[in-house]
Formats: sequence, C-alpha cells, structure tokens
Amino acid sequence: MPRYHRLGQLPAKKHVQFRKPDGSLYSEQLFSTHGFSDMMSTMYHINLPTEVAGWEDMGAVAPTYLKDEALRHRHFKTSRMKPCGDAITGRIPLMGNNDVVWNQGLVAEQMVDFFKNAQADEILFIHDGSGTLESMYGDVPFKPGDYIVVPRGTIWRLRFDSLPVRMLTIESYGPVTIPKNYRNQYGQLLEEAPYCERDVHPPVELKTYDEAGDFFVVVKARGRHTKYHYKFHPFDIVGWDGYVYPWTFNINDFQPIVGKLHLPPPIHQTFTGWNFVVCSFCPRVLDFHPEAIAIPYNHSNVDSDEVLYYCNDKFGSRKGIEEGSITMHPLGIPHGPQPGAVERSIGHTKTEELAVMLDTFHPLWMTQEAVSIEDPEYWKSWQTR
Ligand SMILES: [Fe+2]
Repeated sequence: MPRYHRLGQLPAKKHVQFRKPDGSLYSEQLFSTHGFSDMMSTMYHINLPTEVAGWEDMGAVAPTYLKDEALRHRHFKTSRMKPCGDAITGRIPLMGNNDVVWNQGLVAEQMVDFFKNAQADEILFIHDGSGTLESMYGDVPFKPGDYIVVPRGTIWRLRFDSLPVRMLTIESYGPVTIPKNYRNQYGQLLEEAPYCERDVHPPVELKTYDEAGDFFVVVKARGRHTKYHYKFHPFDIVGWDGYVYPWTFNINDFQPIVGKLHLPPPIHQTFTGWNFVVCSFCPRVLDFHPEAIAIPYNHSNVDSDEVLYYCNDKFGSRKGIEEGSITMHPLGIPHGPQPGAVERSIGHTKTEELAVMLDTFHPLWMTQEAVSIEDPEYWKSWQTR
C-alpha cells in the first residue's frame, strides 16, 4: 500500500541501537520488496527472526491445470462445493496462469498454524464472513465484502467469528497495487478515483507476543509448503514502520462511476497486478440517456480472459447465474447479454449487482476441481434456435 504507516515503538533512526528493558538489543529486520528498490517496512523483533528450530517438507501444492480443453464459455457453481479445511487447506485452485491463481473456498475450520505466502501477494475476498486477520504487522478486522490485501512474506492467520465462510483468494505473482490512473505523482488518491485513503484500513493494533513454545509457520514458496518450527511466537514485533502491510478495502465502499451511456469495465477497476486487473461491480444508477441500453453490448475481449464471481443473483446482463456463480468468458470468442436481457433492461434506472471480476491478458487454465462444479450447458445460454 503506497502510504506510510507505523505501529508500536521505534528508535528515532533506522539501524541504530534499540534496546529492550533488560538492556539487550531488539533484532531489526528490513522487509523489502523488489530487491531494495520498491515498498518496504522495517520491524523490530524480540527474538532472532532467523532462528529456526526445524522444518518439514509438506509437499507440492502447485495447481494442476487442464491444458487440452476446447475453447468455450464456462459457468462454475460454488454452491456445489462442500465446506472443507481452513483458509489455507480449504482453498481450491479453480484456474490460473503464470500471473495469477484463482482459489475458491468454503472454509470450515479455524487456522491453527500461521501462514506465509512467499511467492505471491494475495487478495482475500470475504463473501460472507467476519473476523480478524492476525498478522506480524498487527490485527486487521474484516467483514463481509472486504478485500484483504496481504503482501507476500507476511506471516498471518485468520480468525473467523463463525464458520463456514465463502472466500475467494486471488494469488498474484506480481505486486498487487492500486491503479496508477487513480493516483497523483505523490501516490495520493485523486478526487475522481472511486475510493480514497479513508476507505483503506491498515492494521489497527500491534499485539506483541513475548512467548516461548512451539509455533509453526507454513511457508508457501517454490510451489510447495514447508512447515517452519519456531520456539517463539512469530508475532514478537514491538514496532514497525513503512509501506508494506496488509490492509482491507470493502467492495461496498467502491464509488461507482456512472455515465449517460454505457461505460466499459475499466471504470470498475479496483486493483492491478502483472497482466491482470480486479474490478468491482457495485450497485449504482444506470445510464441516463433517454434511449440508453443500460447493460453491456456484445464484446470480443479478443486478448483477455474474463472471470466474474457473483456475490448475488442480480447481474442484469446474465441469466442462469446464482449467488456464488463464477463465469469465465475466454479470449477469442464474443460474449454479451443473453437473449432477452437487453429488452428487459430498457427503462431500468438502477442495478443491485455485486460482483468481483478478474481480467487477465494471458489465458487462464482450469483445474479438474473447477470442472467438477461446472454447469456444462452454459455455452448454450445464448442460443435462440
Ligand atoms: Fe464482458
């Protein structure tokens, strides 16, 4: 997040002696991204962050993609998923490529071990749960509709108020950022951006645990999980400052941009990554030209795959979708409103749709888990004869 934040105690300067009440030194750690030339945070540990009691290989977790499938429009029903696992073990990769992975979960259990994704930034979209993301940077409360952006390398654990919870996890191999055109040269969000700094919620409280014991952090890197064993609590930080930390943004705080005639998807942009964008489709007034057609025209996203996750069943241009549906409209063939939808939309002045969209510039490959919840008839939903 390109905004300076600090919590806890800090010495006046970096890289100087910073001592505990007993006179010994705290352990300084610089947490940098993209070498030493991008966003970074500096933190002070009670223990040595490098001291490990042991580790255990938990095996490969890289998704297995189906690469020999015919090109077609897809519809996946997450209502067919069974509650399983925790926020990590219950995340099921449905599709992905070399830039991004789409994981879906109906989370059934609380996390016990801590987690660190060292190979990807994550956007956790909480469809219907609430709780707290506990992290080395402090606690971040979350509620339904929150995107939780977790920078790679963050040690965290989710505590849900109740379960099960529907959760989407987008793993991004490049950094997740706020679109450049929303910011001025200093990084501040512009007046015309669809959200502002007040909608961005960094950690509110740093909890420092000076505890000995057996603590386990599952580290995701190189396409596998390795369980690291520490003899001290991993949240042993007494203070930190910088630009790297987890934060939330609620989809309902997105201020939709509306127009006299239909505006294209970039107006819904919320986050950017390498070769993809994430957009939010939110309740809004519809196009107000007296002869406006208020839903999208047919379009050929000829070089872009488009994935939509429907948070309700009120998406004007789609039929046959339900809350929790995912559609995937691949590059190379056009898509648009299903027959009858255009006529039905005329005269409507507002929409209650709520959806998260991922647009990628490289093809997405499906997994067998996606196929197992697929509605194979979806491609026929445009047929008129
Ligand atoms: Fe589209």
